[in-house]
Amino acid sequence: MADGHDMGERAKFREMLEGTKEDWDIIAANSKAFNKGLAKRVLDHLRLLDGDFGGFPIDRLEHSLQTATRAHRDGRDEEYVVCALLHDIGDTLGSYNHPDVAAAILKPFVSEANHWMVANHGAFQGYYFFHHLGLDRNLREKFKDSPHYEYCAQFCHLYDQTAFDPEYKSEPLEFFVPMVERVFSKPKNSMYLKAMEE
Ligand SMILES: [Fe+2]
Ligand SMILES: [Fe+2]
Repeated sequence: MADGHDMGERAKFREMLEGTKEDWDIIAANSKAFNKGLAKRVLDHLRLLDGDFGGFPIDRLEHSLQTATRAHRDGRDEEYVVCALLHDIGDTLGSYNHPDVAAAILKPFVSEANHWMVANHGAFQGYYFFHHLGLDRNLREKFKDSPHYEYCAQFCHLYDQTAFDPEYKSEPLEFFVPMVERVFSKPKNSMYLKAMEE
């Protein structure tokens, strides 16, 4: 396997019903090594947005960098900045639901508010353009009772809808790499958490 995380040993079962503790010790050790490469895999996937303009004034990677840079320069914390950087990472595979993809990747590592913000930013960003496409710009109102409504609206208003300026000098992706590595180094929520703690 790629990334040098294959430790050579293999479990012996043909179906999981036959699995033993020894098998699962091998798999757990491999997962631990594989999980260390998560930040790199996420960053590699983000790079796929490079050169993808989709008609916008700047490409999707530059939009991501600009969104994150604006949030960082505005004093947002590291977790928020990483969410800003990755909020559109789902554009490659989630053409019809891109916020769901980013939200799923970030979910184990971020607060409920940040996860909600990423998961729902599509409807809130729509406030700035849905009316040009014959859609309802007030779609976000369906979330008006959420405690995260203002938080998400602010993200789109301050950093996402503003991040299409070809003149803006964003930080390069390298600037954010250590932040991504730190945020992805330890999950806060995962059904596998207990098994990973030993
Ligand atoms: Fe988006
Ligand atoms: Fe965006």
